[in-house]
Amino acid sequence: MTFAQSLADAARLTEAALARILSEKSLTGEAPEPQAGRLIAAMRHAVLGGGKRVRPLLVIESATLFGVPAERSAATAAALELVHCYSLAHDDLPAMDNDSLRRGQPTVWTAYDEWTAILAGDGLLTLAFDVLARPETHADAEIRVALVAALARASGAAGMVGGQALDLMADKLGDPAVASVDHIRRLQAMKTGALLVFACEAGGILGAASTIERKALADFGAALGLAFQIADDLLDAEGDAATVGKAVAKDAAANKATLVSLLGLSAAKAMLAETEAKANHALAIFGAKADVLRAAARFVVNRRS
Ligand code: IPE
Ligand code: IPE
Ligand code: MG
Ligand code: MG
Ligand code: MG
Repeated sequence: MTFAQSLADAARLTEAALARILSEKSLTGEAPEPQAGRLIAAMRHAVLGGGKRVRPLLVIESATLFGVPAERSAATAAALELVHCYSLAHDDLPAMDNDSLRRGQPTVWTAYDEWTAILAGDGLLTLAFDVLARPETHADAEIRVALVAALARASGAAGMVGGQALDLMADKLGDPAVASVDHIRRLQAMKTGALLVFACEAGGILGAASTIERKALADFGAALGLAFQIADDLLDAEGDAATVGKAVAKDAAANKATLVSLLGLSAAKAMLAETEAKANHALAIFGAKADVLRAAARFVVNRRS
C-alpha cells in the first residue's frame, strides 16, 4: 500500500467517526433546542470538509505497530482531530492571526462571526474529552484515563495553548526573547509538537506499549513536530495561497520570528532534513513495521499544503 492510500484510509475512517460524533442528534439528543443548529453547523464547518488528517494517520499507524486495528484507534484519532480543529478555529480569530482562509474555505469566524467561532472551538475542545471517555474508545477505563490525561497535557498551558501564548507574545508584545533559535524551537515544540507527540504516543497507550517503545514514539513525534512547523513556515515563505489553502507571506509581513526568518531559507531547509533524519532514527527499534511512519515524516517534510 502506498503512503497516499494509508493516509486516505485513515482520513476516511476518522471522518466517518467525526461525522457521527458531530451529528446534531449525537450532540443534542432527540429534542434539540432549535437554535443549537447554528453552533453545531459552525463546529462541523471547523472539522469537516478539508484537512490533511495527518494527526489521525499518526494515531492509527502508531497503534498498528502494536496490532491494534484501525477501527479501534479511530475514535482516539477523531478526538485528537477535534482538538486540532478547535486550535485552528481559534488561531484564525481576529485577536490571534486574523485569517479568513483555511483549507481553501472561509475560516469559522468569517463564515459565522467571532463569538460563534470562539464557542464552536470551546465545544470541540470539550467534545474531544467526552469522546475519549466513552467505552467505545477503549474497553479498559484505565487506558481511557491515560488518553484523557495525555491529551489534556498536550493541549493545555504546557503544550499547544502555552505555545500559542508564547507565539502571540512575540507578535503582539514584541517579546525580545523570541530572537533566539532555542526559544523558537521550544515555542514550536509546544505550539505544534505537543499534539503530534500525543498522536504518536496515543498509539502506544492504546496498544499497551513498553516504556522504551513509548519513549521512541515520543521522540519520533517531537522530531516530527519540529519538522512540521519548519515546513509550515517554509510554505508561508514560499507557497502560494491557492495550493496551501491559507494565506501566505504573513510571517514576513508581521516580522514574525520563525526558524525560516532567523536562519534563512537554505539553513531552515537543512534543519528540516536533519530533523527528518532524527525522526527516522527514533523509529529504529520498530524496524520495517514503522515504514508507514517513516513515510509520514517524508510527507510532512515535502508537503505543499
Ligand atoms: C496547521 O496544521 C497548523 C500547524 C500546526 C502548522 P495542518 O497543516 O495539519 O492543518 P490541516 O489540518 O491539514 O488543515
Ligand atoms: C498555529 O501555527 C498552530 C496551532 C497550534 C493552531 P500557525 O498560526 O502557523 O498555523 P497556520 O499557518 O495558521 O495553520
Ligand atoms: Mg498562529
Ligand atoms: Mg495561523
Ligand atoms: Mg503558519
